[in-house]
Amino acid sequence: MNAFLRNAWYVAAWSHELQAGKLLARKILGEPLVLWRTAGGAIAALEDRCVHRHAPLSRGRLEGDALRCGYHGLKFAPDGRCIEVPGMDSPPPAACVRRFAVVEHRRWVMVWMGDDVARADTGLLPDNFSCESPEWAYVPGYVHYETPVELIADNLLDFSHLSYVHAATFGGGADDTLARVQPRVERLTRGVRVRRDIPRVPPPAYYRPLWAYDDPVDRWLHYEFLLPGTLLMHSGAQPAGMAAEDAERQGTGVRFHSCQTLTPETATSTHYFFMEAHRADRGDANVTEALFQGLLTAFEEDRAMIAAQWRNLQRAPDRRMLPLHMDAALTHYRQLYAAALRAETPT
Ligand code: FES
Ligand SMILES: [Fe+2]
Repeated sequence: MNAFLRNAWYVAAWSHELQAGKLLARKILGEPLVLWRTAGGAIAALEDRCVHRHAPLSRGRLEGDALRCGYHGLKFAPDGRCIEVPGMDSPPPAACVRRFAVVEHRRWVMVWMGDDVARADTGLLPDNFSCESPEWAYVPGYVHYETPVELIADNLLDFSHLSYVHAATFGGGADDTLARVQPRVERLTRGVRVRRDIPRVPPPAYYRPLWAYDDPVDRWLHYEFLLPGTLLMHSGAQPAGMAAEDAERQGTGVRFHSCQTLTPETATSTHYFFMEAHRADRGDANVTEALFQGLLTAFEEDRAMIAAQWRNLQRAPDRRMLPLHMDAALTHYRQLYAAALRAETPT
């Protein structure tokens, strides 16, 4: 699994997945982790492999803040130190399970997968502000993909597919202006910025729970896609010809902020954590739920296409793809990723 950046933060779970007294087993970059929340609210993340006979610790049980292996009963503190070996006066000092640096960052539980915990740099945490803001409302989402992370990143870096994969949800029905409009793509130090402005198009069906409007709109999708796989996006629409600020002042149109992140599970499977928030002062809980259902429908459209693409790729892995103009953002991102990977791989 050395094809993935290790000195980076990955989302391991949504905050609500870590309930007091419960163990969560999750594989990240091919490594099994076990996570739990201590009585004080902190999160522990250890390798899900007992130091003794390598049984998964997630088959054990919590005793207070400590985790007892379910096989022969070794007991571990949240920092991975063994604090009890049944039948021994004191555990051998080497009886230590690997611990991962972990932070709870605006409802994302993030683990640093690098070997050196001291290098975990909180300056690299993504600005997923809308995940924890009274101004934004959303339902947290998760989809498990049986495909490599690269194909999902490619999908998020090229929204021309909205017109075709998502014609009935995010796109504009038969209108494919969105695919024809050229986005502005800008390379950043740790990612890519993509801005797509689409004038005078039919509003997508996805907006309807929030804004039942049938006339043409001016749409915009502005996002950054950052290493190691996080999309942060402002998007919205207003009546065609109206300035976005005027629409906001008048309470018309729609505005969203979306935080989506890809965590490789293995070389060929991926955890996809996502949300798309609307302004909390527009729409009640029913609207939030209806938008979430729309999002799930659209993301299933992606998954079906990417899974089918993956089947073809596996059938003939050496066949070359045809690079085109719409691949600009994903080409930049793949280059950045490769450079970051080279930078952290000892030569
Ligand atoms: S494998 Fe965990 S105590 Fe033996
Ligand atoms: Fe999509």
